[in-house]
Amino acid sequence: MKILCIHGPNLNMLGKRPKIHYGELTLEEIYQTLVETFPQIEFTFYQSNHEGEIIDTIHASLDENYDGLLINPGALCHQSVALRDALEIVAIKKVEVHLSNINEREDFRKINYIKDVVDQCFMGKKIESYIEAVKFF
Ligand code: DQA
Repeated sequence: MKILCIHGPNLNMLGKRPKIHYGELTLEEIYQTLVETFPQIEFTFYQSNHEGEIIDTIHASLDENYDGLLINPGALCHQSVALRDALEIVAIKKVEVHLSNINEREDFRKINYIKDVVDQCFMGKKIESYIEAVKFF
């Protein structure tokens, strides 16, 4: 099984961001945990701080034979109709992941433009949100 794993803005700064919300692990350590926990899965990891680059990557994924798309969009889920429209095009299984519980934080994080164009969302359990998401695939 091949999974494309996309991370949005500021997630390259994990480890320096508030640990109360996002935990201790760096993005590299999250990648490592996934690879070690699921050795049978072929992960492709991509992170960008730029909305357009993420959308280009989603478009390009249509020409690859991925079985699933896992995305932690960071703040883009709260603000990007363009990201939503790009995800809508993707026919494979899509899972949204958040380290923190976006429904129990500031009101602006309760706005989620992508929630109904993904198959499932796992949030609020830090690294465990990712583990649950990959198991869902
Ligand atoms: C996040 C939640 C978002 O609200 C925030 O902007 C992030 C990280 C999470 O993983 O909890 O950058 O996606």
